[in-house]
Amino acid sequence: MAQFSESMDVPDMGRRQFMNLLTFGTVTGVALGALYPVVKYFIPPASGGAGGGATAKNELGNDVSVSEFLASHNVGDRTLVQGLKGDPTYIVVESKEAFAERTKGIADYGINAICTHLGCVVPWNVAENKFKCPCHGSQYDATGKVVRGPAPKSLALAHTKVENDKIVLTPWIETDFRTNEAAWWA
Ligand code: FES
Repeated sequence: MAQFSESMDVPDMGRRQFMNLLTFGTVTGVALGALYPVVKYFIPPASGGAGGGATAKNELGNDVSVSEFLASHNVGDRTLVQGLKGDPTYIVVESKEAFAERTKGIADYGINAICTHLGCVVPWNVAENKFKCPCHGSQYDATGKVVRGPAPKSLALAHTKVENDKIVLTPWIETDFRTNEAAWWA
């Protein structure tokens, strides 16, 4: 393990000061990390929708109308909306028939478009049936599961449901159905 030696001087700062700073930073970081869930609990959700959710909005900031959305998209389309916290989120059209009472034809999950590598918005590639990040080449399958790095994780998920012709997104805190692992983003 690396040791500090007298020869490894830290510029403009004595060693004791430096170590104090390191300790303070670590303790502060741990304390803030521990406080985060508590603070978050007391902050109300940013926008409407039940249970900390948000209604999906289009590029103009208006609520997406599910009937219009389904009329103008095809089965298999993945279309960006503004989702939870305004994150770009893909809505998946599963059926033009309103057979699924709860979702009316859209998948019951939305896919967060932010690449888990360095945060680029990942476009959907229809021809290859996958999401391909233009920044460093990461790839995700049609459900957003990572299939090629450097992205370390799959794209985050949100629950979707339809209420009054609007798409309501709520946080996905359960197991990631693509990997059967805990939701890393929750
Ligand atoms: Fe997507 Fe690097 S940000 S691969």
